[in-house]
This record gives sequence, structure tokens and C-alpha cells, in this order.
Amino acid sequence: MPCKDSLSVIILAAGQGTRMKSEAAKVLFPMCGRPMLGYVLDAAAALGPQRIVVVVGHKGEDVIGSINRAWIPDNPPGGRPAALEFAWQREQRGTGHAVLCAKEALGDLRGDVLVLYGDTPLITSDLLSAFRKDHKEKNAALSLISFSPEDMGAYGRVVRDPEGGVERIVEAKDLTPSEAGIREANAGMYLADHELMYELLSEVKNDNAKGEYYLTDIVHIARGKGMKVSAFMAPDALAVQGINDRYALALAEGVMRKEILRKMCLEGVTVRDPSSTYIDFGVKVGPDTVIEPQTYLRGATEIGSGCVIGPGTEVLDSTVGDGSRVWRSVVEQSFVGKDVQIGPYSHIRPNATLEEGALVGNFAEVKNTIVGRGTKAHHHCYLGDTTIGPGVNIGAGTVTVNYDGTKKHRTIIEDGSFIGCNANLIAPVTIGKGAYVAAGSTVTDDVPPLSLAIARERQVVKEGWVTRRKEQGR
Ligand code: UD1
Ligand code: CA
Repeated sequence: MPCKDSLSVIILAAGQGTRMKSEAAKVLFPMCGRPMLGYVLDAAAALGPQRIVVVVGHKGEDVIGSINRAWIPDNPPGGRPAALEFAWQREQRGTGHAVLCAKEALGDLRGDVLVLYGDTPLITSDLLSAFRKDHKEKNAALSLISFSPEDMGAYGRVVRDPEGGVERIVEAKDLTPSEAGIREANAGMYLADHELMYELLSEVKNDNAKGEYYLTDIVHIARGKGMKVSAFMAPDALAVQGINDRYALALAEGVMRKEILRKMCLEGVTVRDPSSTYIDFGVKVGPDTVIEPQTYLRGATEIGSGCVIGPGTEVLDSTVGDGSRVWRSVVEQSFVGKDVQIGPYSHIRPNATLEEGALVGNFAEVKNTIVGRGTKAHHHCYLGDTTIGPGVNIGAGTVTVNYDGTKKHRTIIEDGSFIGCNANLIAPVTIGKGAYVAAGSTVTDDVPPLSLAIARERQVVKEGWVTRRKEQGR
């Protein structure tokens, strides 16, 4: 049986987001590498609701797909996320209509309903908890969150009666001149008893400038019934702002980016220059790691402790072990072990594994390759589709020739071997344990262990050639 204190959350995410001027769904626009909606879901989940219903419509399949694929709640209470449901709003007929569309998905759950908009990614669970507390303390039938932004923009305005009570909300497009000076905006978050919410909604009409069913109309409908409506003023205006265009998104991303860096610093990471450091939501960095300027840590990236990353570095969807150094380089979808050195100016492309103590770069490119423990490729080289054992020395200018124009082939370089400078290893080919390849060789056949392969023209020296040429007057 549902208890009186129980909570359900409805998140509206069906709108087209016209002002983004995009083909994509607005709530999926990334902020610090994660869809806006993910942050709203986190804030909702942290309240421990019985159910979260996300109302989808415009590009709804994309929204459902993205959430199912990528939403991993930040801190689910009790370690498990609330039951998540989707409800369709096939035609976007306004925020009030969207909440009606969630009714079925809420089923027979009773208790309070909290309505949130999917385009307010800076919302926090702390603020929502304070809102719930305020609603209870004031004994209100309906509560909403208001705020006082620097720019009132297109936000709905909270109209109060002479006694200071909340009377109604007027959308920017429907403002009368006398209401134009109001400095209190509607944040788009509401709390009421489930049955009351739907009773009020059943009376909402679409007689406004946009011809939509406005959720905001439940405020004056409630007042008309003599009910108490309360507005909880958000202490932090930024936290509740709605993202309607890409400039607002850029500013909000700046706020989130700072917050991510702040938390990281407090956990023992040195961030030398926050203004030029970009770390995605969910990236993990160990203590005593130094992030140098102009560094990007993106996607599912995990950096160990005691590393130095940057300057001028990008790490995407990769793991970097303790004590490693990556400078002026790009690392993508790869695994880097402990005490590895990469760079300067190296590109570690997808599916590379650099084992403990490996050293790659200056100017190295590595792709789909295992570089063994303590192996050194200290100078410019291309290592593609290659398995390299431990303790190998790769000379400057080494190229694994992995592509024959049609297919890719693998190169195997076994433990402790030595590849001289400027060697081409034409795959498929194996260099045996402890073997040597002479500088400048183009190796087409396997080299057995502990042998030397020389595969180049023998040098010819023509003594006195220059003198003779001069005598011939050339
Ligand atoms: C809304 C409020 C406004 C408030 C502002 C706060 C209304 C009528 N207006 O305006 O008072 O100041 O938010 O940010 O509620 N959505 C649907 N289905 C629809 C329409 C919208 O799911 O048919 C969703 C959108 O995806 C979005 C949210 O509801 O996540 C808000 O819609 P939006 O069009 O951005 O409303 P605003 O004009 O910003
Ligand atoms: Ca909005």
C-alpha cells in the first residue's frame, strides 16, 4: 500500500526546443559530456522516489534510447535507482498536457507528485529537498519554486496578491504592462498531492498567446478554490534556470565545469589552470595527480594517482595507471598502465594497451597495439596492429606496415628484441625473441629469435668520385 509520505517525480522532456535551432532533442544536448536530462534524473533519483516518469515526445525514441544506454544514476539511494518509466506525449500541446500524459505511467501510486522540467540541468537534490521541506512546513496545497534571475527573459512571472500570497503565473508572452516589472520568475518545479494535481489539471484550458495547455495555470485554479499556494524562492538562481538556447547552455556548462573541477581539487587533484581545463562529468582522477593547463579529460576516462596529465593533452574514454605522464598528446579508447610515459606529441589511437613502464613518443602513433612492459619507442614511429613484448627497443622512424591496400595484418615483435632506426616491418611478420633488425631494413620475412636481420642494399663507396667529376669539368 502506498504510504502518505511517498513521492513520484514527473520530468517533462517532450518539447521541441525550438530555440536551440536543432534537429536533436533539446534535453539530450550534452553538458560536460552528458545529456542535460541526466543531471535532472540524478537530482530526482537522489530524493528516493517510488517512480520517475519521463514524458517524451519530440525525438522521443532518441531520448528513451539515450537514457536507457547512458543514465547511470550518480548516487542512487540504497544503491538502486528508482523505477523509471516513460510516457509519450505524441503531440506537444503544452506543459500541462505533458503532465496529463504521465498519469497512466504513475498507475495507482499516491502521495506527492513533484514535476520537473528536463531543461534545468543545474538543479540539485539538496535544493529539491529544501523545497519539499518548505512545502510541508507551510502546509501548502501546491508549491512551486521561484527565483530571481538577472535576466527575466522568457520566464513566466509569479504574480502575488497585496498580502504577498502567490496568485498566479503569467507567461512572458501574456504579460500586461503592469506585470512587466515583476522580478520573481517561475522555475518550473511544482509539488502537490497526486490527486489534487490531476484535479487542478483537468480544469486547465488553452486560451493563451500560444494556444497551449499551460501547467502554470494550476496556480490560479488552486487559488480560485481557496487553496494555499506557496512559492519557494531558490537561494541560487543559476541552479534552477531553464536552458532554452545554446548561449544559456554554454553558460550553464561553464558553471557545471567549475563545479566538477572544484570537487576534484577537494579530492586531492591539482588543477593548475581551471580556466583551460575541461573535465567531463563522471571522469575519475586519483589524488596527487597534476592536471596541467589546456587539458581535456572526456567520456569514460579514469586517471590514477600521482600522474601528470598535460599540458595540451586530450584523454578520451581511456584508463591511465598510477604514476604515468601524458604530455602534449591525445589518448583515445586505450589502456595505459602504471608509470608509462606518453609524448610529447603522440597519438594513442583506439585499442592500444601500453603496459607498465612503457615509453612512447616523441611523435609516436600507436593503434590497436600492445606495447609490452618497459618497452621503449622513444622517437617518431608508427605502431599499428602490433603485439610488442616486454623490454623491446623500437628505433626512431620504425613503421609497422600493416595495410596492403585491402586488408590489415599483424606484426609480432617478441620480448627483448631490438628494432633499428627507420625499419619497415611488412606485416604479417614476426620478429623473434631477442632478435635484432638492422637500421634501414625492410623486413618481409620472419626473423628467428636471437638472430640479426639486415634487409637493405649493401653500401657502395666510390673513392675519388668527386675529384674525377671535377676534373671532367662537370
Ligand atoms: C516554462 C514555464 C515558465 C517557466 C519556465 C522555466 C510553462 C507554460 N511555462 O516555460 O513559466 O518560467 O518554463 O524554465 O510551463 N515540454 C513538454 N511538452 C510540451 C511542452 C514542453 O514536455 O508540450 C517540456 C519541455 O521539453 C521542457 C519543459 O517542458 O523540458 C519546459 O518547456 P519549455 O517550452 O522550455 O517552457 P518555457 O517556455 O521555458
Ligand atoms: Ca524552458
